[in-house]
Amino acid sequence: MSTVVINKIDELRDIIKNVKLQNKSVALVPTMGCLHGGHKSLMEKACSIADFTVVSVFVNPIQFCPGEDYDQYPRTLDADKLVAESAGIDVIFAPSVNEMYPNLNKFSDLTMVAPPYELTDIMCGKSRVGHFDGVETVVTKLFNIVQPDKACFGMKDIQQLFLIKKMVADLNFPIEIIPCPLVREESGLALSSRNKYLSDSDKTSALTISKALFAIRDSFKLGIKDVKKLFDVGLTNLDKNVELEYLEFVCEDSFKKIDSSDTITKNVICAIAARVGGVRLIDNVILEV
Ligand code: PAF
Repeated sequence: MSTVVINKIDELRDIIKNVKLQNKSVALVPTMGCLHGGHKSLMEKACSIADFTVVSVFVNPIQFCPGEDYDQYPRTLDADKLVAESAGIDVIFAPSVNEMYPNLNKFSDLTMVAPPYELTDIMCGKSRVGHFDGVETVVTKLFNIVQPDKACFGMKDIQQLFLIKKMVADLNFPIEIIPCPLVREESGLALSSRNKYLSDSDKTSALTISKALFAIRDSFKLGIKDVKKLFDVGLTNLDKNVELEYLEFVCEDSFKKIDSSDTITKNVICAIAARVGGVRLIDNVILEV
Protein backbone atom coordinates (compact mmCIF):
# COMPACT_ATOMS: atom_id res chain seq x y z
CA MET A 1 0.00 0.00 0.00
CA SER A 2 1.37 3.41 -0.84
CA THR A 3 1.99 6.18 1.69
CA VAL A 4 -0.37 9.15 1.49
CA VAL A 5 0.80 12.72 2.12
CA ILE A 6 -1.69 14.85 4.06
CA ASN A 7 -1.15 18.57 4.63
CA LYS A 8 -4.35 19.56 6.39
CA ILE A 9 -5.23 18.92 10.03
CA ASP A 10 -8.94 18.37 9.34
CA GLU A 11 -8.21 15.89 6.58
CA LEU A 12 -5.93 13.89 8.90
CA ARG A 13 -8.52 14.01 11.69
CA ASP A 14 -11.12 12.49 9.34
CA ILE A 15 -8.75 9.67 8.41
CA ILE A 16 -7.88 8.97 12.05
CA LYS A 17 -11.57 9.03 13.03
CA ASN A 18 -12.23 6.34 10.45
CA VAL A 19 -9.26 4.27 11.59
CA LYS A 20 -10.44 4.46 15.22
CA LEU A 21 -13.98 3.46 14.20
CA GLN A 22 -12.43 0.26 12.91
CA ASN A 23 -10.83 -0.27 16.35
CA LYS A 24 -7.37 0.01 14.86
CA SER A 25 -4.43 1.20 16.94
CA VAL A 26 -2.44 4.23 15.80
CA ALA A 27 1.28 4.94 16.17
CA LEU A 28 2.95 8.28 15.49
CA VAL A 29 6.58 9.02 14.63
CA PRO A 30 7.18 12.77 14.97
CA THR A 31 10.06 14.01 12.77
CA MET A 32 11.35 17.11 11.07
CA GLY A 33 11.93 15.16 7.85
CA CYS A 34 15.16 14.54 5.94
CA LEU A 35 14.48 10.96 6.93
CA HIS A 36 17.48 8.68 7.41
CA GLY A 37 18.14 5.17 8.73
CA GLY A 38 17.50 6.30 12.30
CA HIS A 39 14.04 7.56 11.39
CA LYS A 40 13.45 4.43 9.34
CA SER A 41 14.06 2.27 12.40
CA LEU A 42 11.50 4.39 14.34
CA MET A 43 8.98 3.97 11.53
CA GLU A 44 9.57 0.22 11.29
CA LYS A 45 9.06 -0.02 15.04
CA ALA A 46 5.82 1.96 14.74
CA CYS A 47 4.61 -0.35 11.97
CA SER A 48 5.38 -3.39 14.10
CA ILE A 49 3.31 -2.17 17.08
CA ALA A 50 0.25 -0.52 15.54
CA ASP A 51 -2.33 -1.14 12.84
CA PHE A 52 -2.08 2.37 11.41
CA THR A 53 1.00 4.57 11.30
CA VAL A 54 1.60 8.27 10.82
CA VAL A 55 4.95 10.01 10.43
CA SER A 56 4.85 13.77 10.82
CA VAL A 57 7.30 15.79 8.77
CA PHE A 58 7.37 19.33 10.05
CA VAL A 59 10.33 21.64 10.57
CA ASN A 60 9.01 23.29 13.70
CA PRO A 61 10.01 26.97 13.72
CA ILE A 62 9.34 27.51 17.42
CA GLN A 63 11.99 25.01 18.57
CA PHE A 64 14.82 26.84 16.78
CA CYS A 65 16.62 29.58 18.66
CA PRO A 66 17.60 32.86 16.98
CA GLY A 67 20.66 32.30 14.79
CA GLU A 68 20.08 28.54 14.44
CA ASP A 69 19.65 26.67 11.16
CA TYR A 70 15.84 26.89 10.75
CA ASP A 71 16.04 28.38 7.24
CA GLN A 72 18.80 26.01 6.11
CA TYR A 73 17.29 22.88 7.69
CA PRO A 74 16.99 20.30 4.85
CA ARG A 75 13.47 19.87 3.49
CA THR A 76 13.29 16.74 1.35
CA LEU A 77 9.65 15.63 1.25
CA ASP A 78 9.89 13.65 -2.01
CA ALA A 79 12.78 11.57 -0.70
CA ASP A 80 11.07 11.30 2.71
CA LYS A 81 8.05 9.79 1.05
CA LEU A 82 10.18 6.98 -0.39
CA VAL A 83 11.73 6.23 3.01
CA ALA A 84 8.34 6.28 4.76
CA GLU A 85 6.88 4.05 2.08
CA SER A 86 9.72 1.55 2.36
CA ALA A 87 9.11 1.39 6.13
CA GLY A 88 5.40 0.70 5.57
CA ILE A 89 4.00 4.00 6.91
CA ASP A 90 0.36 4.77 6.03
CA VAL A 91 0.33 8.56 6.24
CA ILE A 92 2.90 11.35 6.13
CA PHE A 93 1.49 14.40 7.87
CA ALA A 94 3.34 17.36 6.38
CA PRO A 95 1.51 20.54 7.40
CA SER A 96 2.62 24.05 6.47
CA VAL A 97 3.79 26.44 9.18
CA ASN A 98 0.55 28.37 8.72
CA GLU A 99 -1.51 25.21 9.20
CA MET A 100 0.20 24.49 12.52
CA TYR A 101 0.59 28.09 13.72
CA PRO A 102 -1.92 30.38 12.00
CA ASN A 103 -0.87 33.26 14.29
CA LEU A 104 2.86 32.75 14.42
CA ASN A 105 3.44 36.45 13.71
CA LYS A 106 1.95 37.00 17.18
CA PHE A 107 4.31 34.49 18.83
CA SER A 108 3.65 35.90 22.31
CA ASP A 109 -0.01 34.93 21.87
CA LEU A 110 0.77 31.23 21.46
CA THR A 111 -0.10 28.86 24.31
CA MET A 112 3.06 26.92 25.08
CA VAL A 113 3.82 23.69 26.92
CA ALA A 114 7.01 23.99 28.92
CA PRO A 115 9.10 21.43 30.81
CA PRO A 116 10.37 22.18 34.33
CA TYR A 117 13.26 24.61 34.45
CA GLU A 118 15.69 22.34 36.31
CA LEU A 119 15.39 19.66 33.61
CA THR A 120 16.19 22.13 30.86
CA ASP A 121 18.91 24.13 32.57
CA ILE A 122 21.25 21.34 31.54
CA MET A 123 22.65 19.84 28.32
CA CYS A 124 20.79 20.92 25.14
CA GLY A 125 18.22 22.95 27.09
CA LYS A 126 20.95 25.13 28.56
CA SER A 127 22.51 26.10 25.24
CA ARG A 128 19.23 26.15 23.29
CA VAL A 129 17.08 28.28 25.58
CA GLY A 130 13.37 27.74 24.86
CA HIS A 131 14.08 24.81 22.52
CA PHE A 132 12.21 22.24 24.61
CA ASP A 133 9.22 24.57 25.05
CA GLY A 134 8.98 24.54 21.25
CA VAL A 135 9.38 20.76 21.14
CA GLU A 136 6.79 20.05 23.84
CA THR A 137 4.33 22.47 22.27
CA VAL A 138 4.53 20.95 18.81
CA VAL A 139 4.50 17.39 20.14
CA THR A 140 1.38 18.23 22.19
CA LYS A 141 -0.26 19.61 19.07
CA LEU A 142 0.72 16.51 17.09
CA PHE A 143 -0.60 14.24 19.85
CA ASN A 144 -3.91 16.13 19.85
CA ILE A 145 -4.18 16.02 16.07
CA VAL A 146 -3.15 12.38 15.52
CA GLN A 147 -4.39 10.94 18.86
CA PRO A 148 -1.96 8.03 18.68
CA ASP A 149 -1.97 5.10 21.10
CA LYS A 150 1.81 4.97 20.83
CA ALA A 151 4.53 7.37 19.74
CA CYS A 152 8.13 6.45 18.88
CA PHE A 153 11.07 8.69 19.85
CA GLY A 154 14.76 8.05 19.26
CA MET A 155 17.30 7.74 22.05
CA LYS A 156 19.77 10.01 20.24
CA ASP A 157 17.70 12.97 21.48
CA ILE A 158 17.90 11.55 24.96
CA GLN A 159 16.92 14.74 26.82
CA GLN A 160 13.95 15.20 24.49
CA LEU A 161 12.87 11.60 25.12
CA PHE A 162 13.10 12.09 28.89
CA LEU A 163 11.09 15.32 28.76
CA ILE A 164 8.41 13.89 26.46
CA LYS A 165 7.96 10.87 28.74
CA LYS A 166 7.60 13.23 31.69
CA MET A 167 5.18 15.50 29.83
CA VAL A 168 3.00 12.52 28.88
CA ALA A 169 2.94 11.37 32.51
CA ASP A 170 2.44 14.85 34.01
CA LEU A 171 -0.31 15.87 31.57
CA ASN A 172 -2.04 12.46 31.42
CA PHE A 173 -1.78 11.88 27.71
CA PRO A 174 -3.17 8.37 27.05
CA ILE A 175 -0.14 7.59 24.91
CA GLU A 176 2.65 5.06 25.35
CA ILE A 177 6.05 6.49 24.51
CA ILE A 178 8.27 3.94 22.81
CA PRO A 179 11.99 4.71 23.14
CA CYS A 180 13.94 3.46 20.12
CA PRO A 181 17.69 2.77 20.07
CA LEU A 182 20.11 5.27 18.56
CA VAL A 183 21.27 4.16 15.09
CA ARG A 184 24.89 4.60 13.98
CA GLU A 185 26.82 4.41 10.75
CA GLU A 186 29.23 1.49 10.66
CA SER A 187 31.95 4.02 11.54
CA GLY A 188 30.17 4.77 14.83
CA LEU A 189 28.84 8.21 13.84
CA ALA A 190 25.28 8.68 15.13
CA LEU A 191 22.85 9.15 12.24
CA SER A 192 21.53 12.70 12.01
CA SER A 193 19.80 14.83 9.38
CA ARG A 194 22.60 17.36 9.95
CA ASN A 195 25.36 14.87 8.96
CA LYS A 196 24.80 15.84 5.35
CA TYR A 197 26.31 19.27 6.10
CA LEU A 198 29.64 17.62 7.07
CA SER A 199 32.62 17.66 4.68
CA ASP A 200 34.80 14.52 4.54
CA SER A 201 37.33 16.02 6.95
CA ASP A 202 34.54 17.23 9.27
CA LYS A 203 33.21 13.69 9.26
CA THR A 204 36.59 12.33 10.33
CA SER A 205 36.61 14.80 13.22
CA ALA A 206 32.96 14.09 14.05
CA LEU A 207 33.76 10.40 14.40
CA THR A 208 35.80 11.19 17.49
CA ILE A 209 32.56 12.11 19.29
CA SER A 210 31.33 8.50 19.32
CA LYS A 211 34.93 7.36 19.82
CA ALA A 212 35.15 9.48 22.98
CA LEU A 213 31.82 8.14 24.26
CA PHE A 214 32.83 4.54 23.56
CA ALA A 215 36.17 5.11 25.31
CA ILE A 216 34.28 6.43 28.35
CA ARG A 217 31.97 3.41 28.29
CA ASP A 218 34.93 1.01 27.97
CA SER A 219 36.77 2.67 30.86
CA PHE A 220 33.60 2.53 32.94
CA LYS A 221 33.25 -1.19 32.19
CA LEU A 222 36.86 -1.65 33.27
CA GLY A 223 35.96 -0.22 36.67
CA ILE A 224 36.58 3.55 36.44
CA LYS A 225 33.57 5.10 38.21
CA ASP A 226 35.10 8.48 38.98
CA VAL A 227 33.37 11.12 36.81
CA LYS A 228 36.43 13.37 36.58
CA LYS A 229 38.54 10.50 35.23
CA LEU A 230 35.84 9.48 32.74
CA PHE A 231 35.51 13.11 31.64
CA ASP A 232 39.26 13.22 30.93
CA VAL A 233 39.07 9.96 28.94
CA GLY A 234 36.43 11.63 26.77
CA LEU A 235 38.39 14.83 26.27
CA THR A 236 41.59 13.05 25.26
CA ASN A 237 39.70 11.20 22.50
CA LEU A 238 38.10 14.27 20.90
CA ASP A 239 39.69 15.72 17.77
CA LYS A 240 40.89 19.32 18.03
CA ASN A 241 38.31 20.38 15.40
CA VAL A 242 35.49 19.28 17.66
CA GLU A 243 34.21 22.35 19.53
CA LEU A 244 32.73 20.84 22.65
CA GLU A 245 29.48 22.37 23.88
CA TYR A 246 29.07 19.90 26.72
CA LEU A 247 30.20 16.51 27.93
CA GLU A 248 27.83 15.68 30.76
CA PHE A 249 26.86 12.83 32.99
CA VAL A 250 23.24 12.65 34.19
CA CYS A 251 21.27 10.01 36.10
CA GLU A 252 19.24 7.89 33.70
CA ASP A 253 16.16 7.88 35.95
CA SER A 254 16.05 11.54 37.07
CA PHE A 255 18.20 13.44 34.56
CA LYS A 256 19.98 15.07 37.50
CA LYS A 257 23.49 16.22 36.66
CA ILE A 258 26.35 14.27 38.23
CA ASP A 259 29.20 16.43 39.46
CA SER A 260 32.76 15.85 38.35
CA SER A 261 33.68 15.11 41.98
CA ASP A 262 31.14 12.24 42.11
CA THR A 263 31.45 8.50 41.68
CA ILE A 264 28.91 6.66 39.55
CA THR A 265 26.74 4.24 41.53
CA LYS A 266 23.68 3.89 39.27
CA ASN A 267 22.86 3.99 35.57
CA VAL A 268 24.09 7.17 33.98
CA ILE A 269 23.72 8.81 30.58
CA CYS A 270 26.93 10.25 29.22
CA ALA A 271 26.12 12.80 26.51
CA ILE A 272 28.05 15.08 24.19
CA ALA A 273 26.98 18.06 22.09
CA ALA A 274 29.62 19.60 19.86
CA ARG A 275 30.10 21.60 16.70
CA VAL A 276 32.19 20.30 13.84
CA GLY A 277 32.66 22.65 10.89
CA GLY A 278 29.79 24.70 12.34
CA VAL A 279 27.43 21.69 12.41
CA ARG A 280 25.89 20.90 15.79
CA LEU A 281 25.91 17.19 16.63
CA ILE A 282 24.71 15.24 19.66
CA ASP A 283 25.40 11.70 20.82
CA ASN A 284 25.23 9.66 24.01
CA VAL A 285 25.88 6.29 25.63
CA ILE A 286 24.40 4.72 28.73
CA LEU A 287 26.78 3.59 31.47
CA GLU A 288 25.03 0.65 33.10
CA VAL A 289 26.09 -0.37 36.58
O1 PAF B 1 13.24 15.12 17.24
C1 PAF B 1 12.74 15.87 16.37
O2 PAF B 1 12.94 15.68 15.16
C2 PAF B 1 11.86 17.03 16.81
O3 PAF B 1 12.35 17.63 17.96
C3 PAF B 1 10.38 16.64 16.96
C4 PAF B 1 10.18 15.64 18.10
C5 PAF B 1 9.86 16.06 15.67
C6 PAF B 1 9.54 17.88 17.29
O4 PAF B 1 9.62 18.83 16.28
